Parts: sequence; structure tokens; C-alpha cells
Amino acid sequence: MRCKGLNIYSVQESLMEMFPVSVEMRSFIEDLPKAELHVHLEGTILPATVLKLAERNRMDYPFKTVEEIQEALDSRTTSLKSFLDLHYMFVSVIRTKADFYEVTYEFLRTCMNNSVVYVEIKFDPQFHTEQGISFDAMIKGIDEGKKDGLRDFGVDCNLIMCINRERTVESAWKMMEQAYPYRHLITGLGLDSYEKDNPPSKYTEVYEKAREQGYRVTAHCDVNQEDSVKHIWECIDLLKTDRIDHGINSIEDPELVAELIRRDITLTTCPTWRNPYPGPRDLEGIKKMYELGLKVTLNTDDPAEFTSEYMNRTLIGAVEGSGYTKEDLVQFMRNAFDGSWLPRDRKDMYIASLEEYALGHTG
Ligand code: ADE
Ligand code: ZN
Repeated sequence: MRCKGLNIYSVQESLMEMFPVSVEMRSFIEDLPKAELHVHLEGTILPATVLKLAERNRMDYPFKTVEEIQEALDSRTTSLKSFLDLHYMFVSVIRTKADFYEVTYEFLRTCMNNSVVYVEIKFDPQFHTEQGISFDAMIKGIDEGKKDGLRDFGVDCNLIMCINRERTVESAWKMMEQAYPYRHLITGLGLDSYEKDNPPSKYTEVYEKAREQGYRVTAHCDVNQEDSVKHIWECIDLLKTDRIDHGINSIEDPELVAELIRRDITLTTCPTWRNPYPGPRDLEGIKKMYELGLKVTLNTDDPAEFTSEYMNRTLIGAVEGSGYTKEDLVQFMRNAFDGSWLPRDRKDMYIASLEEYALGHTG
């Protein structure tokens, strides 16, 4: 095993070698009933589908082959900006109601193949409407994909529309207005995209209105951003979110950890990895959060854009790197069902089936 501590990736590479996953553990993970709370619809499209949509929409698209897309994915640095700059190239191929339908429906098929029984899907309306797609086409395509996905794959989902935080506050208000007639189709409001110079406080009033309108609210506090800890405080104090997306830097502030526990805030972390880096990011931070008693969940974020892929592969990577036991994995999923925005009786129903699975496979 390599010496720890040279840089974050050498640590994580060595961790990857520490806990080989047995065939039995792999099969336990594959069949574990799962909930996912942090995944972006636009980040679920595999390169072949990106090219198919670009062609179908007659776009003059800079990538012509899957290999070219893969090369671009492998050339990213670890910064949020580098990730997002390429991510939006993929987002841009979704142009029609049929595209939204297909992407949603196919993602729910993948959820079924990963034993994800419930998922909360984020999407970025401002990007799409500013490309000329109507809110109506976007939301109806997603909603029909969601309904057919439930019918055909038995995967239930709810939707979270996200504010692209680098855009203007006026643009966020416009999105709220466009969403209003479809309020019943959208469960939550989130905040994503470029965090630098775009603190949660920029959206205090928008969030206040969203809560008044009955949306559940969350926001990204991405890992190791400028003022990450301050942003988490702003989320809980100003935006009054009951979840934080990522939020790993909370462990730097014991008072914040205590407050997150006191308020029962769910943190949706993403132990993803990408080439050329060998293993999941931030595993040590995530494990510390878990050990401190924070309500942590494990998620895929943008599975088609990471080597960690969808839920099963992501969880296997987390176990390989952190040595989580079956009981730990059950606890992560208990946290996810409990931290979801389902009504209490539905949460309890899913948790009961999780406990039944655990009983048959642990001990
Ligand atoms: N959009 C898609 N994935 C994101 C992430 N991890 N952070 C911020 N915005 C995103
Ligand atoms: Zn995210």
C-alpha cells in the first residue's frame, strides 16, 4: 500500500486498495433497496445518447464520437468549473419534449437496474428555457417519463428544479413564475451550478417565496469552495433548507455539525470519481460526517459523467475505499428514505422493506 498523505488522490488510491469487496458484498449492494436524493437529470445521459440527441436535433455539435467525448471527460481537472463547463455541453443536446421524456424514462430504467426504488431528480430549467425550450414542453416531457417509468420499472420519483446560481436573481424569479402553473408536478427547489461569488444569501427572498408556495428546499454547497462553511450556515439560517447537497466542509466547524444534527438536516454527499483520478473523492470527509452522527446519504450526482457511474458502482467504490459494513450501507439508505420528501407513511413503507432486506442479509 502506498504511503498516505502526499495529496488527496494518493490517499484515496491507497484507500481503494484497503477493502476489497467480496462477491457476497457486491450482491448485497446490488439488491439493496435504495433511495437517491442527489442526481441531475442532465448528468445521466451516456455519451452515445448525447451524440444521438445532438444528431436528432441537427446540432452542429463539437463532439462526433463517443471516444471524443470520453477524451474530454478524461481531460477535466477536479475543479467545479472544469466539470460544469463540459457538463453544459451535454445539457445542451436536450431540445424537445420527446428528449426530456426519453432521458427521464431511460434514467428510471437504470434506477431499476440498480435497485433504486425511489429517486429525487434535479433539473435546470433556466438553461433549457434560455435555449428556447418552453417550460411546458420540458416539464411535461419529464413528467410523462416519470409516470411511464413508474408504470414500467416500478421506480417512483419526485422532481427538484434548481436555480443556476450564477444567473441573475431576476432570472430565478422568472423561473418561479414559469413553474407556478406546474407547481403540483415539482416537489422541491434547489440551487446548483457555479458557486464562486454566488452565495446562498443571493437567493434568500426567492427561497422564502418558494417555501410559501409549498416547495421543499435544498441547496448545493459543493466541496472545498470559497466560503463553503459560511455557505452551509447561510443555507440553514437564511434559505431554511432541510437538506444540503454535498456539505462535506461542515466537519470543519463543530458548532455547525451540532446544529445540523439538532435540526436533523440531511446531507446528500457524492463519493464520485473521474479519470484520471483513481478513486472516490472525499471519502475521508464523508466517513467523518457519518461517524459524527450527521444524517449522511450517498449519491451519484452526474453518473454518466463520472467513472463511479450509477448507484451500485458508486456504493461499491465507497465500500472499497471506506470499509463500510452491510449495516453501514443500510444506515445510509435509512437516512436517504428518511431524508426524502415523501410523506411519512411512504417513508415508513420503504424503510420497512429495507429493514426486511437487512434482516435477511445481515447478522
Ligand atoms: N450541476 C450538475 N452537477 C452539479 C454539481 N455537482 N454542483 C453544482 N452544479 C451541478
Ligand atoms: Zn449536484
